[in-house]
Amino acid sequence: MSEKSYYITTPIYYVNDKPHLGHAYTTIAADVLARFKRLQGHDVFFLTGTDEHGVKVSQSAKAARLSPQEFTDQQSAIFRMAWDILDISNNDFIRTTEPRHEEAAKKFLLELFDKNLIYKDKYEGLYCVGCESYKTDSELVDGKCPDHNIEPILLSEDNWFFKLSRFNDQLKKLIEKDELLVRPVARKNEMLGLLKQGLEDIAISRQKVDWGIPLPFDKSQTAYVWIEALMNYVTGVGFQDDKKRFQQIWPADVHLMAKDIVKFHALIWPAMLLGVGLPLPRQVFAHGFFTVDGKKMSKTLGNVIDPVEISEKYGVDGLKYLIIREISFGEDGDISLGRFDERYNADLANGLGNLVSRVLAIAGQREFETDYSQSKDFEQQVKLTWAGYEQAMTDLKFNDALDSVWKLISSCDKYIEVKKPWELSGDGLIPVLTNVLEAIRQIGWLIQPFMPLTAEEILSQLKVYDTEKIKPLKDIQAWGGLTGKLALSKGEALFIRL
Ligand code: MSP
Repeated sequence: MSEKSYYITTPIYYVNDKPHLGHAYTTIAADVLARFKRLQGHDVFFLTGTDEHGVKVSQSAKAARLSPQEFTDQQSAIFRMAWDILDISNNDFIRTTEPRHEEAAKKFLLELFDKNLIYKDKYEGLYCVGCESYKTDSELVDGKCPDHNIEPILLSEDNWFFKLSRFNDQLKKLIEKDELLVRPVARKNEMLGLLKQGLEDIAISRQKVDWGIPLPFDKSQTAYVWIEALMNYVTGVGFQDDKKRFQQIWPADVHLMAKDIVKFHALIWPAMLLGVGLPLPRQVFAHGFFTVDGKKMSKTLGNVIDPVEISEKYGVDGLKYLIIREISFGEDGDISLGRFDERYNADLANGLGNLVSRVLAIAGQREFETDYSQSKDFEQQVKLTWAGYEQAMTDLKFNDALDSVWKLISSCDKYIEVKKPWELSGDGLIPVLTNVLEAIRQIGWLIQPFMPLTAEEILSQLKVYDTEKIKPLKDIQAWGGLTGKLALSKGEALFIRL
């Protein structure tokens, strides 16, 4: 069998609302990773989708005067369209209302039931509809859920429970030893802290929620939305009906999300997998939360940013660059549209865009044969850039990877300032032009995972995109790829100054 696919997931987003910049952030980051891994030659499978059951969604459907199915069809399509517009390269899009998911989720639940990991008991406690999750008193602030600023409801039902507590010690060992990699380390420690307190069994069904998947062993109850949603990671890759495909893709190499839902992914989901005897994901990575101008994005504050809307201002690639560059991946951050504007002009219009256009303007004035006789320092610098970049990408430090590319861009600018190619001609000019053009080719590939459209444009202006896109990364990285006689011309500006 061929090498196992590299499998990347995002959370499946609730359809009660439209996609906002927070959803886009995770999805863009996953896309960056997917594209980088493809560049490295991996067979990538990148899955995203929508989470469509539960109280919150059915309430929103009611408010929209639609049936839950009509409402989720409409909302899920909006997510799908947003990712299309943002040029996200997901290989599939899963909806939890699809038959493939419902069937597979039932199979998974039945396996847990058959393994005697599910039992019936009375549940009494608090439930936050915003989080779609149960709350303990200690998680509340002034009696309210701090994330949603609403009071949880008191639930008292007969529910089915999953024996989560039984996996406590096993999970602790796996996470401690990094056999289940939870990153960044702060999140690993947070999970170990929860395991130290001890996990309790959790309710996995709801008695009074119709909008859900009926339990295969008790049709009077539906599966608790979180339990069923987590299963999308296996139901989307053939768990129920395609063993060969499933083995080719599962386990996930990275489950990506924000820190709000890491407990579900690093504790509950692995316990469920251990329960049915499936391999665990290799890494659970939770990035931080960002605020907008220091405030949480919220409808009440009216500061929710629509990613599609702002991609019209900065371009799809511009938006991807800005959001990834502004926040240190893995940590909390803050964004402001004012800073986006400044950075767009400085880094994209004046930085990358200007470099490409001024060099191609000079190169376009003549046909010439490349000359690498004076490129030792340059070659070394590009090599070092790739080394730092690849390490950063492997560690999911996406903003650091971009930092290293922009250092290379400013070195090229400095080199041009020192060499003054506009004052040179003939033998003096060609080696200088060759160096910067080759550096630009490499920059084109370095930015490709982040800004695929811009990369294609740059590499097309250099007339190498079509031939190089099929080459292995090590060939692309080899210095001197731009070779032979060059007849180039200045193309359209990559970024228009705001
Ligand atoms: N449906 C569940 C996930 C189930 S996965 C099996 C859910 N959906 S959600 O629509 O609320 O999405 C939460 C995710 O959206 C976060 O984990 C994160 O990926 C993203 N973000 C939402 N707001 C964000 C910020 N302000 N900052 C960073 N990420 C944000 O939870």
